Amino acid sequence: MRSGTSDLTTMSGARCVPVVVVFVKDFVVYLGDVITANNIPIANASLYWDQALSPTRSRGIPWASVFGNHDDAPFEWPMEWFSASAIPQLVCPVVNSSCSGEQECSFRGTSRLELMKNEMDNNLLSFSRSGPKDLWPGISNYVLQVSSQEKPETPIVYLYFLDSGGGTYPEVISSAQAEWFKRKSEEINPDSRIPEIIFWHIPSKAYKKVAPKFLIHKPCVGSINKEKVAAQEAEMGIMKVLVKRPSVKAVFVGHNHGLDWCCPYRKLWLCFARHSGYGGYGNWPRGSRILEISEKPFSIKSWIRMEEGNVHSEVILSS
Ligand SMILES: *[C@@H]1O[C@H](CO)[C@@H](O)[C@H](O)[C@H]1NC(C)=O
Ligand SMILES: *[C@@H]1O[C@H](CO)[C@@H](O)[C@H](O)[C@H]1NC(C)=O
Repeated sequence: MRSGTSDLTTMSGARCVPVVVVFVKDFVVYLGDVITANNIPIANASLYWDQALSPTRSRGIPWASVFGNHDDAPFEWPMEWFSASAIPQLVCPVVNSSCSGEQECSFRGTSRLELMKNEMDNNLLSFSRSGPKDLWPGISNYVLQVSSQEKPETPIVYLYFLDSGGGTYPEVISSAQAEWFKRKSEEINPDSRIPEIIFWHIPSKAYKKVAPKFLIHKPCVGSINKEKVAAQEAEMGIMKVLVKRPSVKAVFVGHNHGLDWCCPYRKLWLCFARHSGYGGYGNWPRGSRILEISEKPFSIKSWIRMEEGNVHSEVILSS
């Protein structure tokens, strides 16, 4: 994602819950399923989480992340491992303590809290946050303010990040999260003057209503429509809150590797990102969804950039 100018600073807002202010040129959003923890037979998956973020870190680009349904999943023993020819040499960590090493070898998954803590503690460039405790077990619930360097007090756009669950708890955005978004957005953007963009991992049921049947055609924009929308298990009110705010311009989700479209829903856009990773299912060509936020004149544009560099599926989400 790109916006106005360069440089990067954080500030705490004067209000009770701090709002992070970002002055960014480039910014990366990790839209969940950063790791497939159900395939990771080690006790602490933060090592892999950290590796997944490293290309962004090594380029000095700031980022934010949300959780998907695979990040805190417990290890699933593959059936093949139990045949004589395929059983791997599994070395469990030895601990020098009174308890045996058994616990270290149970691979229960690394909790969202721990993954987030390790990301935040070890990375100055991370803008990810552990959200309010009353939204637990959802963790990646927070808001960032984007401003230009010239006018750091003036927000250009607000980015909201929500934890859509999955893994160790149901795939859902709770009514408490919907209420939090409503309260927060009314507090910091009372007249809905500043555009808002929303990020979470698992599409809500509303995505099913707008999904192209077969070919992607106007008003939808995209290039692959190879799966059914795998939506959250329930709708607890977040979409109702979002459609009531004229400032909400678009929602971005991941989850479905075989979908990359944007479709309008009421007055906002529902978008998928693009299959980027080398883990997980599917062999669709890799790319990523780019978001370009311009200040003057204001616009939010998006397109998909493929791994080889070609671009397609440009859409204007707000202007
Ligand atoms: C887990 O791994 C991360 C990153 O490698 C490390 O910073 C953290 O201390 C580890 N946590 C535990 C409980 O060992
Ligand atoms: C465990 O204890 C042994 C013997 O006291 C010591 O040599 C080894 O370094 C210890 N390992 C760890 C990981 O602390």
